[in-house]
Amino acid sequence: MTFPADRPVVLIAEELAPAALEVLADDFDVRHVDGTDRPALLSALAEANAIIVRSATKVDAEAIAAAPRLKVVARAGVGLDNVETAAATARGVMVVNAPTSNIVSAAEQAVALLLAVARHTASASAALKNGEWKRSKYTGIEIAGKTVGVVGLGRIGVLFAQRMAAFGTRLIAYDPYIQPARAAALGVRLVGLDELLAESDFISIHLPKTPETVGLIGAKELHQVKPTVRIVNAARGGLIDEAALAEALAEGRVAGAGIDVYSKEPCTASPLFAFDNVVVTPHLGASTAEAQDKAGLAVARSVKLALQGEFVPDA
Ligand code: NAD
Ligand code: MLT
Repeated sequence: MTFPADRPVVLIAEELAPAALEVLADDFDVRHVDGTDRPALLSALAEANAIIVRSATKVDAEAIAAAPRLKVVARAGVGLDNVETAAATARGVMVVNAPTSNIVSAAEQAVALLLAVARHTASASAALKNGEWKRSKYTGIEIAGKTVGVVGLGRIGVLFAQRMAAFGTRLIAYDPYIQPARAAALGVRLVGLDELLAESDFISIHLPKTPETVGLIGAKELHQVKPTVRIVNAARGGLIDEAALAEALAEGRVAGAGIDVYSKEPCTASPLFAFDNVVVTPHLGASTAEAQDKAGLAVARSVKLALQGEFVPDA
């Protein structure tokens, strides 16, 4: 099907892969807006038939109400916590995402953070570039033989676990929605959260952000871990209570952390930034050329199908 001369408006609210923009430009009036500039977003939505976002744009009830022509909200990535799906559904607006587009990249980012925390890579690099040749200060720990606790054994948690298995680790996971047989087939033992906290040398979080998971690792949980534990969060800010983590680091109850995501983003100041044993990245889990191409092309296809009124299969 081709679209009429008066082409549907597809609003791009965050950076999208050039390949996806090319695909969209063939059929649509592609417009750009900074999704974090709320007045500009609400005004641009007035004419939008579709909007494509990543994680920074809040597509909530107010945004949906500002978009009378809206047919589809497309999330170029996995997490849908920035989209009020209930409000969209109530208005008959379809919500699509690209659930497998960046899972390898996100799992690799968690592994990279874990390794960087274990070997002080970021601090040692910064120190050396500052003219400091310090070897004993940056003595790390091996990964082999350690217990790695995976919180959330979904798509990314599984890819992360498979990669950590290659390091010769013992893998345990907390995920009440996964069958023990499935975990066992992956070489992972399912445990309760208390057991995971008490036994893990490394903990990596791979949960969606939901009312149930926010603050899952809070002050109480951070009193249950080994003082040698290193914690990685490349899933969503707020799953670990940042203030409680900073307190645990300050009191030596946690040995290090690798953090990609923050409860408020963009985040340019955090108590966590004060610690040498904390490696931070600005939500880069999906920021690879491959993941961006896959996410962008997947949502471009879904938007096209949705605006044609066709069935949209899982991207
Ligand atoms: P998924 O849905 O495949 O897996 C999530 C797992 O969490 C599921 O197995 C589910 O059973 C489990 N879970 C849900 N609630 C739970 C709870 N209360 N306790 C324990 N386990 C629970 O999702 P995924 O593809 O693995 O992605 C996970 C999250 O990673 C996404 O929702 C997104 O927020 C985040 N993510 C971040 C980046 C990044 O750039 N840093 C990139 C991609 C995804
Ligand atoms: C996701 O959930 O897919 C990630 O947060 C990636 C992103 O949008 O950058």
